[in-house]
Amino acid sequence: MKIVLQNLTKKFPGRGKKAQGEVTAVNDLSFEIADGELLALLGPSGCGKSTTLNLICGLEKPTAGHIFFGDRDITVLSPELRGVGMVFQNYALYPHLTVRENIVFPLENRKGKDKLSREEMNAKAQETARLVQIEELMDRKPGELSGGQQQRVAIARALVKMPGVLLLDEPLSNLDARLRLKTREEIRRIQKQTGITTVFVTHDQDEAMSISDRIAVMRDGVLMQLGKPQEVYDNPESLFVAKFLGTPPINVFEGQVRGERLYIGDEAVLEAGGVPDQPVWVGIRPEGFLPQEDGPLSCALGRVEVLGRDISILSSHPACTGQTLRSIISAETRVDASAAQVHFALKPGKVFLFHHETEERIPCVLG
Ligand SMILES: Nc1ncnc2c1ncn2[C@@H]1O[C@H](COP(=O)(O)OP(=O)(O)OP(=O)(O)O)[C@@H](O)[C@H]1O
Ligand SMILES: [Mg+2]
Repeated sequence: MKIVLQNLTKKFPGRGKKAQGEVTAVNDLSFEIADGELLALLGPSGCGKSTTLNLICGLEKPTAGHIFFGDRDITVLSPELRGVGMVFQNYALYPHLTVRENIVFPLENRKGKDKLSREEMNAKAQETARLVQIEELMDRKPGELSGGQQQRVAIARALVKMPGVLLLDEPLSNLDARLRLKTREEIRRIQKQTGITTVFVTHDQDEAMSISDRIAVMRDGVLMQLGKPQEVYDNPESLFVAKFLGTPPINVFEGQVRGERLYIGDEAVLEAGGVPDQPVWVGIRPEGFLPQEDGPLSCALGRVEVLGRDISILSSHPACTGQTLRSIISAETRVDASAAQVHFALKPGKVFLFHHETEERIPCVLG
């Protein structure tokens, strides 16, 4: 099922007479999610991710704008008619029902030809429980489960009716690291197998990068960028998006373009053909540094960490906005860990320039 969001806005009224503190949770959001696609919605706390999901499933009504499923405008359609499975951020399970009854719940009350017998419902519940590995917990109540187990019951409950659209709001937040990795692969597998159009909300950019077809990055209710994970990583359109994706994070420097050359401090580090003279933010990915004796960027060496496949060099530079400059280089490279300084050349494809005020990307080819 294709989903289209068209100029979607959601304002929450403020309190009191003057309606002070009105919040625009979602601000003129427009994008499409292709049929069968898994889209990750990524952004900091409070940026409007849950509100966006609530609008898609119909729990909230937009202040303005439209939502389409396929060609059908469903903006005012009631939630139960939308065919959406949702796992909420707080995955509210029914406390007085067993796990089996919780999973079966969306299948109850079906009418006419869609009506299922008790055996059919239990079989479906069993099948979905197997997918998320909670078969042995079917007779327990939610209060008798760990947070991670409850979360998996919520996923099973959203999947059991094989909805046309699946909305997952931080569905893995309560799982430990290993189970989290496993479950996200499992969600991806189930999603691919069933072809359910899925929106997956997360804070975790690693998670977003690894399982999604495309990523939408939001900030303050606004869509900042939408694209394939690698595209967004390789071509961030703003400093915000550049900083949001990547571990370790991108290194940001105060820089200057003068005479078509990029300066960090007094050092000319790259050619910047066609860029007018101006102060800039320079973002350099950790893998963009090459240790070289005559490299133009001179940094005070902190520590060298050998990570097996890679080496991480921690250093510092007065123009770097972070205290520590993190670079990752291949393990074959020789680095004198006892030296006071390390000199870097830069890989032009890993260096981005941003406007000093708007923080938008300055289109240019560095060399
Ligand atoms: N019912 C509501 N009434 C008033 N304001 C609300 C309501 N729901 C959300 N908000 C506000 O709207 C903004 C977006 O909230 P939302 O829950 O969509 O954020 P989020 O991106 O899901 O954050 P998180 O990652 O913390 O879950 C926030 O500023 C929040 O305080
Ligand atoms: Mg939320």
